[in-house]
Amino acid sequence: MLEDPLPNVVTHMFAQPFTVSLLGSMLVHDYETHRHLLGVGVLAVRLAATAGLTRDGALALGQAALFHDIGKLHIDAALLSAARPLDEREWYVMREHSEIGERMLRARGAANLARIVRGHHERIDGSGYPDGLRGSAIPWPTRLLAVADAYDCLRAGRPYAPPVEHHAALERLDAARHLFDTDAVEALVTTLEPREATTAIS
Ligand SMILES: [Fe+2]
Repeated sequence: MLEDPLPNVVTHMFAQPFTVSLLGSMLVHDYETHRHLLGVGVLAVRLAATAGLTRDGALALGQAALFHDIGKLHIDAALLSAARPLDEREWYVMREHSEIGERMLRARGAANLARIVRGHHERIDGSGYPDGLRGSAIPWPTRLLAVADAYDCLRAGRPYAPPVEHHAALERLDAARHLFDTDAVEALVTTLEPREATTAIS
């Protein structure tokens, strides 16, 4: 039986004292990143429920997801919304956002969230950043966040890439087994298919 309905966890996601200031700042800085943070935050909690995380684990994952790109506050908004492929130097600047976000959260006393945020661009084959971690060296909540993040990016599109339809997005993630954890992708499919969806944290 359910101990804590999903909406309750989502409500507590926003309880960090710095939530309003950081998300408010992002709303002003770059609207699409603000939308993305909210979307991935809620999706991550739903994913956590499907994946069987505890309530505290789901809450931490949801909060980390809510701030996973917060480091982009320190990246030029014109670069964030550039409607063209980025060059090498621009990608270098862009990739710094996960470590900037980690530092921002550590400075606010949220080391548990900072760890998850640092790793959200790590990939199963070691091709991610900032640490090039492989497979199970990437913590499970971080692997879940990576999948939720990638799904939202595909669905929304990027300034230089069109949006991808729901089933096509799931197929792309499923095909990218070298990048994303197979179990995490499976949990996402289960979460987003209505007949399979779980609605609560145990
Ligand atoms: Fe990111």
